[in-house]
Amino acid sequence: TNTITVGLLGLGTVGSGVIEILNDHKESIQHKTGCHVTIKTVLVHNVSKSRNLPTSTTQLTDRYQDITEDPEIDVVIEVMGGIDHTLTILLEAMEKGKHIVTANKDLIAQHGAQLFETSQRNSCDLYYEASVAGGTPIIRPILDGLSSDRISKMMGIVNGTTNYILTKMTREGVDFDTVLKEAQDLGFAEADPSADIDGLDAARKMTILSILGFSMPFNLEDVAVKGIRGLSLSDIKYANQLGYSIKLIGIADHNETGASVSVEPALLPVGHPLSSVHNEYNAVYVYGDAVGETMFYGPGAGKLPTATAVVSDLIAVIKNLRLGTSGSAYVQPQFPKHIKTRKD
Ligand code: HSE
Repeated sequence: TNTITVGLLGLGTVGSGVIEILNDHKESIQHKTGCHVTIKTVLVHNVSKSRNLPTSTTQLTDRYQDITEDPEIDVVIEVMGGIDHTLTILLEAMEKGKHIVTANKDLIAQHGAQLFETSQRNSCDLYYEASVAGGTPIIRPILDGLSSDRISKMMGIVNGTTNYILTKMTREGVDFDTVLKEAQDLGFAEADPSADIDGLDAARKMTILSILGFSMPFNLEDVAVKGIRGLSLSDIKYANQLGYSIKLIGIADHNETGASVSVEPALLPVGHPLSSVHNEYNAVYVYGDAVGETMFYGPGAGKLPTATAVVSDLIAVIKNLRLGTSGSAYVQPQFPKHIKTRKD
């Protein structure tokens, strides 16, 4: 059996989930890939803190070069978050020929073009299924399963934390701050939860979906964003009494006049399918000219769901390595973007 050697960047909620899945599903992963996966080195802030490591030979380091410059490491899994410093690390890793799996939507939304270009130039894989909708497959369905179609619209709930908050406020009458704390304790929220609450996390995910779905070079700045900060229990109660639920909805729309992307709280009639997406679950409708309406639904945050997407990406990377097709999976946007002006 071949061995695939991995460097892991970050050992927080998702990182420990990755280790858990690699361990619990070891035989099936070996069967599917024909390879044995070993995590050689883990980058952490504090190397003296005690941790659950995958094997006794796994090394902890606080120097990222121990991973990017280690010729034995084939794949770098990035689950540490952050933007500028993390970008440097991933670019250096790809220049050294390492394949990347990342859960980092901030990075893909803001520096996708540079990352894609570097991965193609170095024939490296760059996979990021976990960056949108956690454990729910959405990136590869758009890029592969629906690749023959022309996508005209994508709409849905793409932030688990705010959906969890809205669900608990609606169902249990718990106030905003208390339920936010709960979402943080459950590992759903971002390190800085204002990214969730103010809609930025959802905007990043809608940016990624729009780049891929419409094949246009969207930026985060193109998204009109409004979050759920300041929403009170009575707002929610009144909406309910009128037969509506409040959800944070991302909409990306593309027609002859151009494309537009937005994130905002919306009133949905209680019978609407998106109004029955509860807790940290996400759901995204994708409308294609030929296929019609498809919907992707599942957990949008949390340790094991997100780690599932990461490890599935790792399996895809290993398969490409074995077939000699690394670096061919993802394509650059083909069309210039034309942003529709908002009439309101
Ligand atoms: N904070 C994110 C969310 C995590 O709540 O959806 C998953 O991307």
